[in-house]
Amino acid sequence: MSTSERKTRKEISAARSSLVFSDFAKRIVGQSMFRILGAAQDLERQGKDLIHFEIGDTHLEMPSEVKKSAIAALKAGHTHYGSSYGEHTLRVAIQKAVKEDFKFTPDLSQIVVTSGANPLIYYVLAVLVNSGEEVILTDPAFVTYNAVLDMLKIKGVRVPITHTNNFRFDPAEVEKRITSKTRLIVINSPSNPTGSVYPKSDIIKIYALAKKHNVFILSDEIYSRLVYEGAHFSPGTLDSCRERVIVTNGFSKPFAMTGWRVGYAIGPEQIIEKIALLSQTIVSCVPPFLQDACVTALERRHEFSARYLREYARLRQIVLRELGKVEKFEFSKPSGAFYLFIDVSKTGMDGDQFAEYAMQKHGVVVCPGSGFGPGGKKYIRICYANTSQKLLEGCRRLARAAAKAL
Ligand SMILES: Cc1ncc(COP(=O)(O)O)c(C=O)c1O
Repeated sequence: MSTSERKTRKEISAARSSLVFSDFAKRIVGQSMFRILGAAQDLERQGKDLIHFEIGDTHLEMPSEVKKSAIAALKAGHTHYGSSYGEHTLRVAIQKAVKEDFKFTPDLSQIVVTSGANPLIYYVLAVLVNSGEEVILTDPAFVTYNAVLDMLKIKGVRVPITHTNNFRFDPAEVEKRITSKTRLIVINSPSNPTGSVYPKSDIIKIYALAKKHNVFILSDEIYSRLVYEGAHFSPGTLDSCRERVIVTNGFSKPFAMTGWRVGYAIGPEQIIEKIALLSQTIVSCVPPFLQDACVTALERRHEFSARYLREYARLRQIVLRELGKVEKFEFSKPSGAFYLFIDVSKTGMDGDQFAEYAMQKHGVVVCPGSGFGPGGKKYIRICYANTSQKLLEGCRRLARAAAKAL
């Protein structure tokens, strides 16, 4: 092959590689914690001993009763395609749970079951917001929000929140940011990454603003059963999810069923229909035998979630006690979820630098706060749903890292 031919091939392949991805694909970034997990696993393969605090998962097993229901459903042959709205039995169970817990009864046409709550962030934003329009959310906020906004070219209008103010999502700050382009406000209480639980009075004010300016509310309630102090309040109760509130929830966090990938949304009928069609287009349906077992989880939700809440409350005490001794760490006490969001600036590092240093030099893996938005840069997030032993050891390593920093 002549030099000129080789060059031509090289040029063609360079041209191809720049053509490989669509503009949409170029905006896909994923979830930062999975990247960190990948880097940590590489180190572990090289023999490094690490304690993992980065992923929002739990060391606890899911309820065995739910597993038994899944096995029975498998044996009964519930292994075929099903409705893209979700199985009728599960939607009825969701309807009943909403009626009992929130005192309003959504129609079945207001309920859709999806493959976890995470895709719902994409589904809801994709069906309601055009590129160039605006969504108001906290800064920091759960990583998927920022990732989906970028992917869909929606402008995220961020309300900075800080530990010095208990990460309050202040309605007055929301109001200042509403424009003619605002389409939706995200409420995530209890919040990931901060663990803060928003007061009912603030949620009512944000709802009133949404109503006044005719914008939607996406209320991500995946941690609603993990509240230690105060009470969870759903804006869905204010309009029965009939007008502007879309509530999302799922089985991952309250029942330690993260790998099941089952979530659901309750919202205005027409929006739910579009979400079901989008879900149909992408995943067709959620495995029916999993949904059958989720009925058991919902029927016994109070009993099951109380088990997990008790254990997380105990672990929360440990982490607050141990990391409370670290002078260079600043945080506010989280009232819900299973995270601690720590300002590490007194170590002389930002969250990215500290996370890298803690992993490489002290064997503890945490999430840098920058993954949750620019306002998270000076923070790290740790997930404390871990065994007491690992939690204590991880806290010791974090304390050593803070002490040796600078
Ligand atoms: C705020 C928030 N919303 C949604 C999700 C997604 O949960 P699921 O496992 O149901 O997809 C998570 C998971 O970490 C989360 O923290």
